[in-house]
Amino acid sequence: MAFATLAGCQQQQGGAPVASTTQYSSSDFDAIISRLNTNSVKWDGRTAVFGTDDVIPLWVADGDFAVANPIQQALLQRAQHPIYGYTRHPHELRQLLVNWQSQRHGWAIEPDWLVTMPGVVPTLYAAVKALTNEGDAVIVQPPVYTPFFSAVTDNNRRLLLNPLKNNDGHYEMDFEHLEQCAKQGAKLLLLCSPHNPIGRVWTRDELLKLIDISNRYDMTIISDEIHADLVYAPHQHIPLLSLDDLSDKLVTIFAPSKTFNMPGLGMAFMVASDPGLRAQLVSEFKTLHIESNNPFTLTAVQAAYAQGADWVDALLPYLAETQQQVIEFIHQHLPQIKVQSSEGTFLMWLDFSSLGLDDKKLHTFLVEQAKVGLSAGISYGKGGEEFMRLNIAAPRAMVLQALDQIKRAVNKLVL
Ligand SMILES: Cc1ncc(COP(=O)(O)O)c(C=O)c1O
Repeated sequence: MAFATLAGCQQQQGGAPVASTTQYSSSDFDAIISRLNTNSVKWDGRTAVFGTDDVIPLWVADGDFAVANPIQQALLQRAQHPIYGYTRHPHELRQLLVNWQSQRHGWAIEPDWLVTMPGVVPTLYAAVKALTNEGDAVIVQPPVYTPFFSAVTDNNRRLLLNPLKNNDGHYEMDFEHLEQCAKQGAKLLLLCSPHNPIGRVWTRDELLKLIDISNRYDMTIISDEIHADLVYAPHQHIPLLSLDDLSDKLVTIFAPSKTFNMPGLGMAFMVASDPGLRAQLVSEFKTLHIESNNPFTLTAVQAAYAQGADWVDALLPYLAETQQQVIEFIHQHLPQIKVQSSEGTFLMWLDFSSLGLDDKKLHTFLVEQAKVGLSAGISYGKGGEEFMRLNIAAPRAMVLQALDQIKRAVNKLVL
């Protein structure tokens, strides 16, 4: 795919010099930066996933945007010091995280509640081990981010599925069914908030209903809030643990990965206000010896939370506009695909069922005919059949080019 041919796109090389300004505009996100030969999973991993590198990759939830200038500068400065030894957590970090949650989500957390982890998925795995025994049931709500399933099954726990209800494209939780699952003795629910892949931002009312059920059946809820900072107005993310006056069995996990586009650096924060629950989780984490982080991650995370807010503030309207243009394009040129706007995340959930292709044929069609690499809906479990997840965290021209290729392929499709 020769992106150099895309009209109107500013070209920039991967190792471009760092600009001195910290003011961002949409042209920062329009810049097409080659990620080839960086061992990028999204780009260099295409052949392994799609059998060819001739696809526009809009799959794994990793963005194609340069990180905020202060993050680049902090990393360059750290790299210039030639010793990369064991590194303690900067003293300022906890307060930066407390400030971030207070400013972005109006959520007051105590510094002591925070536990640093190398990623969200390791935290989910460790939490399943800490809070349940082999054979216990754990509830997940498909279609949902794939590791939610494996965190349960890889640990020899039992999956209890509480599928989301799809009301003509608007997804809701099925509380009646959830109560049935809770009655079966599930001790743990893994919540995705905002929800990947369907893009819902759960309302206060929905979270209160969830907490009510968890209280009545003595169930802990672990809320994966990795997408929390990428929410479109008027929707508002409510950290689950901000409702901790209602339950002492709530845990929120958040991370800088999606917010600042640095998922490769790996870091996450588990927050539990109840000392007993926190101790239970921490003692499991200790058995895995996963508390430490590398000097580059710590440097980048500190710069991000201290100086990355204006970048996030510029990214959000860019993503909102891309989402709007995707919806308009689909309505005008691809009426066969059903789409709703996502309330949060940079992920969009496309319903291809009217093409009448099964999941295997849909995958082959998109790869071979449209030359576009999306994430198969079926990989998110029940309810994902004949859907595809589109990652719009890429220069808008690239996303629209992918849609144009899908349009041309659909127009040629002989059913
Ligand atoms: C909901 C959700 N949780 C967790 C992750 C990955 O987290 P980490 O890379 O910190 O393990 C992702 C990445 O796409 C995600 O969408």
